[in-house]
Amino acid sequence: MKQSRRLEKFRSAVFFELNDLKQQLRAEGKEIIDLGIGSPDLPPPPHVIQTLAEAVADPGGYGYPTSEGSLFFREAVATWYKNRFSVPVDPLRECMALMGSQDGLSHLALALVDPGDYVLVPDPGYPIYEVSIHLANGIPYRLPLTEENQFLPDFSAIPKEVAGKAKLMILNYPNNPVTAVADRAFYEKAVAFAKQHQIAIVSDIAYSELAFDGYRPMSILEIEGAKDVAVEFHSLSKSFNMAGCRIGFAVGNRDILQALAVVKSNIDYGVFTAVQKAAAAALLGDQSHTRRMAETYQSRRDVLLDGLAQIGWQIPKPKATMFVWAKIPVAMASREFTRELLRRTGVAVVPGVGFGQQGEGYVRIALVQPEDQLQEAVRRIGASGILR
Ligand SMILES: Cc1ncc(COP(=O)(O)O)c(C=O)c1O
Repeated sequence: MKQSRRLEKFRSAVFFELNDLKQQLRAEGKEIIDLGIGSPDLPPPPHVIQTLAEAVADPGGYGYPTSEGSLFFREAVATWYKNRFSVPVDPLRECMALMGSQDGLSHLALALVDPGDYVLVPDPGYPIYEVSIHLANGIPYRLPLTEENQFLPDFSAIPKEVAGKAKLMILNYPNNPVTAVADRAFYEKAVAFAKQHQIAIVSDIAYSELAFDGYRPMSILEIEGAKDVAVEFHSLSKSFNMAGCRIGFAVGNRDILQALAVVKSNIDYGVFTAVQKAAAAALLGDQSHTRRMAETYQSRRDVLLDGLAQIGWQIPKPKATMFVWAKIPVAMASREFTRELLRRTGVAVVPGVGFGQQGEGYVRIALVQPEDQLQEAVRRIGASGILR
C-alpha cells in the first residue's frame, strides 16, 4: 500500500528511534527510568473521580454530546477563567470544549490557513504545532527560541514579507520543551504585532497551573484588546491529571472559535458528557489539589537538579512546567547523548532536536517519576561516567 507523501511530515524519526531502543533494552532486562514522555503519573482529585463515576452510572448521559461542549461545562470554564485570570468570557460565544488541547492545536490551522500561508511557530516547539500546519498545507516559519533571547521570539526579526503572509502565530508559555515563561510586556508586544499584521494568535497554556516558588503564569487574554486576535487553549490533562479523559478547552476570539467549531463539527461529536461533568467539577471545585501537585513537581525538580549539580551537571531551575531543559554538558549531539545515556544508565530523556533544530544541544527531562526514582537516575548518571 502506497502511503501519502504527507505522512512523511508526521513521523518523527527521533521519537521512533528512542522508543525502539527503550523496548530493546527492556527486552534485555534493563530497568528503564522513563523521564521521556510528559504523561502525568499523579491521580486526578478524588472529587473528580467521584463525579466521573456517578456520571458514568447515569444511563441518561450516553447520547451524542455537542461538538462545542455542553453549556454547564462552558459555564464552568468561564467561571474558572474569571477566578484564575480575572478575564470575563462569554460561555456561549467565547468558549468551547476540546478533546484535549491537542484537538484544537491540530485542527485550528485547517480553519484559518490556506495553502501557501505562513504560520509562525516556535522552534523548539511541541511537535503537533508543525504537523497541524502541514495538515493545512501551510508553511511553517520557525521563530527561534534561544537562551540569548530568554527563549522568547523576537518579533522584529520576522521579515515583513513573512509577517504579511502569516495567518497564525503559535505561542506557548510556560513552554514545552524549554520551560521558559512570558511576562505582560511580552504578551503586549505579541498582541501589537499580531494586530499590525492581522495575524491570529493561539496561546497554548497547557502548563499554566504547574508553576513554582510562588510564580503565577498569566493569560494572554489579560492584555487589553487581546480577544480581537487571540484564542487560548488550555488542558485539564496537566492541571488536574486528566490526560486520559481527553478534555481541554478554547477561550477567546469568537470568530476564530466559530471557524474551529465548523472544522470540528465535521470531525467529532464532542466530549463524553460524563467527562465534561468531571471536568466541570475540577474547574469549579477546590483548587488546592492542583497547588499540591505543583509542589510535588517543584520538589522533584529540586531533587533532580540539586542531585545533578552535585555530579557536575548544572541546570537552571525552571519556574514552571513538568520539564527540565538541560544543556548537554559534553561534546555530543542531542540524539547521540540521549541514546548513550539510555544505553549506559537506562534513563530515558528526549533529545532537544526532536522539538526542532534550535533544540540541538539540549535534552528535555520530564519530572514524571517519584523522587526516589529521580535520585536513582542521578546515581546511575554519576556512576556511568557519561558526564566526563
Ligand atoms: C505544550 C503542550 N500543549 C498541548 C498538549 C496537549 O495536551 P492535551 O492532553 O490537552 O491534548 C501538550 C501535551 O503534552 C503539551 O505539552
